[in-house]
Amino acid sequence: MSKTVGILTSGGDCPGLNAVIRSIAKTLYQQDADTTIIGIEDGFYGLIHCKYRIMRPSDFSGILTAGGTMLGTSRQPFKQMRVIGEDGIDKVAAMKKNYELMGLDCLLVLGGNGSHKSAHLLSEEGLNVIGLPKTIDNDLYGTDTTFGFHTALAVATETIDRIHTTAASHSRVMLVELMGNKSGWLTLHAGIAGGADIILLPEIPYSPEAVAEAILRRKKSGKTFSVLAVAEGAVDKNEAGLKRKQRLVSRRAAGYQVISDQVAQQVIRLTGLETRVCIPGHMQRGGAPVAYDRVLCTRFGSHAAKLVMEGHYGVSVAVKNGTVTENKLEDIAGKPKLVTPDNEMILAAKSMGISFGEE
Ligand code: F6P
Repeated sequence: MSKTVGILTSGGDCPGLNAVIRSIAKTLYQQDADTTIIGIEDGFYGLIHCKYRIMRPSDFSGILTAGGTMLGTSRQPFKQMRVIGEDGIDKVAAMKKNYELMGLDCLLVLGGNGSHKSAHLLSEEGLNVIGLPKTIDNDLYGTDTTFGFHTALAVATETIDRIHTTAASHSRVMLVELMGNKSGWLTLHAGIAGGADIILLPEIPYSPEAVAEAILRRKKSGKTFSVLAVAEGAVDKNEAGLKRKQRLVSRRAAGYQVISDQVAQQVIRLTGLETRVCIPGHMQRGGAPVAYDRVLCTRFGSHAAKLVMEGHYGVSVAVKNGTVTENKLEDIAGKPKLVTPDNEMILAAKSMGISFGEE
């Protein structure tokens, strides 16, 4: 019997979502031309509100390089999934009902950490679910790499490269703030790839004095400029005891919208040097996937299709030591993968004099 497969993309978008969808669809059609693929629109919102369209094979052509997601996406916080909101909708019951209504044999969820928690919830509720690891943050447990990360890394690195030249011309301190609220993988990789002098990560609270010292040390050694790669979730050690929301409130009260503004002011106060901030923001999530991601997305999608054909559910696709495989949802959901201070990349960076703002 031919299968009916639902696909949704959830959470922040990233380059490569369409490439994964294409690979899933082409592989499934190749095995069984009568497969029905249902595109659920706007992530879990579409599953809750029964927003979907039946796809045709031609829908999946010409999308390998397209950025964004052809299905649309939304953020539906996992914490709210079991909470009945003002609209009175029981979201879990609605998703189960709509899954039946669409006649799905299984649901493929392309998402990051929060989406994997919701995917696991639905799996526990008895639905046949397969996850695919999407996020530019690369912070999903159980996979070496998530799709979208390498493209964001290319954008972030190019940004640092460009900032480098103008920083040198003007003899300035320049900060590049990169995405990553809870994890600093993108900033760590881009910082190293772009030759940043100081890298500030959410996982390693920084000391403003240590940052200033590193900049002044460079100046003393004859370097006229410094480039800082700062994760959007970087934490001043003096605020490390506060919860994230409290930190934001205290930062805003001090007049800073974002962490790099705060770091910039600290640098100016402690060094007196001319300092500027650059935030590429959602540029890091847009545009065509780089070749690495196109290949990874194709491998992930075809593996997910294979799992569908085998009826192997309750898992999420992953790549480990170069091999595409899968993890049980219960083993990975709710476990973010963070940078640890003893990470080999951090040690290598430190050994060549890159500062992480530690005392
Ligand atoms: O999770 C991916 C991510 O890009 C984070 O790095 C960033 O903090 C967040 O999404 C931004 O989300 P939004 O699209 O809601 O601004």
